[in-house]
Amino acid sequence: MPSYLETAVEIARESGALLAKLFDRHIPFELKGDFDLVTEADRSSERLIIERLKTHFPSHGIVAEEGGGHETTSGFRWYVDPLDGTTNFAHGFPCFNTTLALEQDGELIAGVIYDPIRDEMFAAERGAGAYLNHRRIKVSAARRLEESLVATGFPSRKRHLNINIYFYHQLAMATHGVRRCGSAAIDLAYVACGRLEAFWEFGLNPWDMAAGRLLVEEAGGRCSGMRGEPHQLRGPDLLADNGLIHDETLELFSEIFRGEYRVPLPKI
Ligand code: IPD
Ligand code: CA
Ligand code: CA
Repeated sequence: MPSYLETAVEIARESGALLAKLFDRHIPFELKGDFDLVTEADRSSERLIIERLKTHFPSHGIVAEEGGGHETTSGFRWYVDPLDGTTNFAHGFPCFNTTLALEQDGELIAGVIYDPIRDEMFAAERGAGAYLNHRRIKVSAARRLEESLVATGFPSRKRHLNINIYFYHQLAMATHGVRRCGSAAIDLAYVACGRLEAFWEFGLNPWDMAAGRLLVEEAGGRCSGMRGEPHQLRGPDLLADNGLIHDETLELFSEIFRGEYRVPLPKI
């Protein structure tokens, strides 16, 4: 019998192929909120993933972004983001993925992030390491923020209340640069394979973070809340990095929370 991870990989590949086909057709988008986009691709991909999960694991619960899931008492729960990076997708910007992760009795045990544009399958199983297209991956060896490339994101919901711009500025000054690729799962996968040293974001959902968090941890990295507290999947905030720059980043974050800025924003 295939493992949970093997089945998740198979489902992610199928859903990724569907997304890639729809991406080429430039399908229209609708608005879920003021700036929160959704497309037929989000819905079709979610239908496909849920159908496959129900067939393979009829007793498991599912939490899925577009609302197609259901709870059960099995102790198993899948987190599904059928299209992470919808805004990119809707604009023809080729950075998006499909991601799913499995939790057993509150612990993440398997996770997959598939980028169909680059044909990159990131997969991790608790205790068995993290992989990119079957090759073992690990976080980077950078020891200081000043030698790091980092990433962040800004959620589309309640964005006028998001405090991240203060963090963005200080991190941009403290590192080689801050990337904002528009797909939290890809950001996390890139931390896991050492392309980035760190990723942080305020206001994420469990389906954005579940697979990526397991990948980062299995690749030797560290995840926490913004003040160093243990990370909660129901978050909503996450700092994930290679572990070596975690304390230094938290120190910088705590200064920003106190309103102490190492580099003030320039006056216009
Ligand atoms: C979004 C992306 C984005 C992040 C947002 C997420 P979606 O997911 O991951 O990078 O900044 O917070 O909501 O809506 O495209 O699935
Ligand atoms: Ca998402
Ligand atoms: Ca999504």
